[in-house]
Amino acid sequence: MISFEFTDSQLEVQRMARELAAKKIIPTISEYDRAHKYNPQLLKDMGAADLLGFCLPEKYGGMGMDYISLGLACEELEYGDTSARVVLSVHIGLYSLPVCTWANEAQKEKYLVPCAKGEKIATFGLTEPAAGSDAVGIQTTAVKKGDRYLLNGEKMWISLADVADYFLIFAWTDLDKKKARDHKGLSAFLIERGMPGLTTGTIHGKLGVRAGNTGYIAMTDVEVPAANLVGSEGEGFKIAMFCLDQGRYTVAAGSTGLIRACRDACVKYAHERETFQKPIAEHQLVKQMIAGMEAGYEYSRLLWLKAGWKKNLCEPNTRETSLAKWIACREAEAAAANAVQVHGAHGFSDEYPVERFYRNSKGASIYEGTREIHTLMQADYALGFREDKPLRTHLPIVEQE
Ligand code: CAA
Repeated sequence: MISFEFTDSQLEVQRMARELAAKKIIPTISEYDRAHKYNPQLLKDMGAADLLGFCLPEKYGGMGMDYISLGLACEELEYGDTSARVVLSVHIGLYSLPVCTWANEAQKEKYLVPCAKGEKIATFGLTEPAAGSDAVGIQTTAVKKGDRYLLNGEKMWISLADVADYFLIFAWTDLDKKKARDHKGLSAFLIERGMPGLTTGTIHGKLGVRAGNTGYIAMTDVEVPAANLVGSEGEGFKIAMFCLDQGRYTVAAGSTGLIRACRDACVKYAHERETFQKPIAEHQLVKQMIAGMEAGYEYSRLLWLKAGWKKNLCEPNTRETSLAKWIACREAEAAAANAVQVHGAHGFSDEYPVERFYRNSKGASIYEGTREIHTLMQADYALGFREDKPLRTHLPIVEQE
């Protein structure tokens, strides 16, 4: 049965996230964004609002909420600022849900429960200075020495790199397969801040998401216990793709919130601003831009809702998630560009939030699969070159009403 009604608990998550955006993000975001400064209080506020582990099973310290709730929270947080939604993308999407799905019980006890409770923050490290879209092009290696792996390499463009306590890192454990670019030589590891040889740093000078922490992770002979290998040796690529299925979903839902923020800013401004002796809301070309935002919001939302619905059923959803991510990011970029246009010269300055929306919208068409990667994936699905297999490892079972 298809329903367009949200449950009471989904609405409660939406309300909490909306309130957090209104009270804790929107009033101060322009100050942090202008200063290129990450606000450490934001994580505390998100933790206090139970937003750091709500969609993880109660058994592991979460609240057992579903994927639609996760999408709704992302939409509301990105309505405030992209940097807030990015926290959920990495901490929940790219790290906690995959750890919950792929890790063993001892690993979950140590590396998931504190994240679900909001006591620890986590992120994901796949991308490197010379390998983003080309995931098998990464160079990081993990060489086994007795009961440890020695990790060497560098991860780049990692959200929360300088803030996270735990990292899910991808590295080659089979060097012959690395040479042959055979993804079956890649493995995933749980790593902690404080392990000797691990350093992190912040990247400065970003176009957008300036209030978010983005950085690098450098690993020099980091000794990682063999017990921290997630899944089996050689499963790293599949785990990474699984992580991206969750992360891309959060980006899709978040970008939908950004489209709504653009629309609302334009609606307000269009009623206030007058040209040619009438509010600009009455000019047809302004209406056209606002109509585009309205349509983009509605269909982006339907696409992530469909992906979330499939995730709740534990059905394969890479195809739907990729489409939702691609379209929502494309529409967010278009909405933000038009939002600046509707605001005219005012939109060109940081007097209004739309210039921040414009800068923030760009990154999402690059991270978690560029728009080109998603375009090719969608073409390949349509042409019969790509097909989703049944999920080998189930998504965490969520409690549904
Ligand atoms: N879940 C589980 N397994 C999956 C999977 C998924 N979603 N997708 C693929 N697999 C499996 C396949 O079943 C296949 O298994 P077998 O070999 O056993 O048959 C295997 O993985 C290889 O799959 P494909 O042949 O489909 O892989 P591909 O080479 O065609 O993939 C690609 C190419 C789609 C371009 C992929 O490399 C890709 O998505 N690249 C983009 C990477 C990306 O998004 N990077 C951004 C990183 S995050 C970030 O931006 C930074 C940050 O801070 C968060």
